[in-house]
Amino acid sequence: MRATLLALNEELLRLKASGVDTVSVSNDSLRILRKLAGGGAPSQPPAPDSSRSAREPGGAAAVKTPRFDDTKRNPPPAEKVPAKSTLPEPPVVKLPEGDKQERWDALLRQVQQDPVCQKSVRPGKKVVLGVGNLDSSIFFCGEAPGAEEEVQGEPFVGPAGQLLTKMIGAMELQRSDVYIGNIMNWRPQIPTKAGREQVGNRPPTPEEMAYCLPYIQAQLEIVQPRVIVALGATAARGLLGQDRFRALGEVRGKWQEFAGTPVMVTYHPSYILRNQSIRSKRIIWEDLLEVMAKVDLPISDKQRGYFRAKT
Ligand code: URA
Repeated sequence: MRATLLALNEELLRLKASGVDTVSVSNDSLRILRKLAGGGAPSQPPAPDSSRSAREPGGAAAVKTPRFDDTKRNPPPAEKVPAKSTLPEPPVVKLPEGDKQERWDALLRQVQQDPVCQKSVRPGKKVVLGVGNLDSSIFFCGEAPGAEEEVQGEPFVGPAGQLLTKMIGAMELQRSDVYIGNIMNWRPQIPTKAGREQVGNRPPTPEEMAYCLPYIQAQLEIVQPRVIVALGATAARGLLGQDRFRALGEVRGKWQEFAGTPVMVTYHPSYILRNQSIRSKRIIWEDLLEVMAKVDLPISDKQRGYFRAKT
């Protein structure tokens, strides 16, 4: 139950970060929420879980939970995510012989022609594979395409992507020096009324992540990076396993491993967009300094000092 409330809380934060400040909730959903919250006062929205947020910066305390509106004013969107997987077995990806570019091109063709991927994007939107330097030592792995990414067909081009680009710049690198991919190749859909654009994002289900896993594995096989940077809990769960940790803080900032490649788990850039404190920026920056050291990038005194709280 706690996990469900945390997931709900996380999704509300995500919606808020993407500009949504009001969420309509049907009476049925309200009844379920009250039941989950232990039958609390009917007129109160669920409270953010402050114990988790105090421990985990990705958690809830940093941002107030959005206001809930009455369904009479705002009819509820059809927001249900299928409880059971309807996805077939994950695809078999067999990379052809050839150089990296040829192998990557073949992978792009496969993912773009994958009927499950195609069916999972709305009309006019794109399936998204990673981009970047196929010889990079550093492979950033995010969660899933968002609104801008599914339009452009490229990962991390929206607000979180602009921040990621700045983080890469702070490492004295350019976007084109690194490889950037996602656990998911499509934007997880939230059903909307016909013809309406999806507002906000939802985290992918474990089944969706399992379906796309061969594609991230194939990208890693092509790039052969020296390190993977897992951005946020979903990417970390996708790579390390769904049950590897409860709170991101358990694995963040410590070297993990995926198929023999070191993984640095850090917070997702969208966390910084929601929580602009020097402390959170410093935490992510310390993780990136670890990454730089691991791949033998020079680190200047100025870089070492970024986001140190002034005393
Ligand atoms: N967030 C992600 O995790 N990936 C993207 O591509 C964009 C936003």
